[in-house]
Amino acid sequence: MKSSEVVKREARADCESCPLVPERREFLRSMSAFALAAISLSLPIRSATAKVLSSAVAGRKLLSYPVPATDGADIDRGNEVILVRYRNEVFAFNLSCPHQNTALRWNETDMRFQCPKHHSQYQPDGEFITGRATRNMDRLAIRRDATNNIVVDPDTLYRSDEDAAEWKAAVVKL
Ligand code: FES
Repeated sequence: MKSSEVVKREARADCESCPLVPERREFLRSMSAFALAAISLSLPIRSATAKVLSSAVAGRKLLSYPVPATDGADIDRGNEVILVRYRNEVFAFNLSCPHQNTALRWNETDMRFQCPKHHSQYQPDGEFITGRATRNMDRLAIRRDATNNIVVDPDTLYRSDEDAAEWKAAVVKL
């Protein structure tokens, strides 16, 4: 009967020609996991907090955000709003995927939105790229006020398939 140390030594010797010996493979696997974790940590998925403004329409609220200082996505989970600054334009989106209402995620590396449920993907301006969805992300009514803040109406939602002109116009140009 061979000891476990002998078995390991023989296994190592058998694998001299392997592209990667087990220890090296394990080391690289753990390094990859570490690298992925580092990349994930470096993704600035920002969270936004809105100031709630009174609306002219009773029972409705308007949300006010400072203009994002740099390109990226600011997610306001409490109000289910995504604010995006991209190439000198600002958009507001409903947080839900237009396919089956799953909360979308922002991938800063690929500069696109991804749905975790059926993997639909969207451009930063909400245009559909691929997946099961059948339209662009739903935009919310948006404007810039006199104090230079972005004002979003979370109750006024534009679908690209039903409100094409409003959807296209729902943008603040910086
Ligand atoms: S819920 Fe997003 S693609 Fe289906």
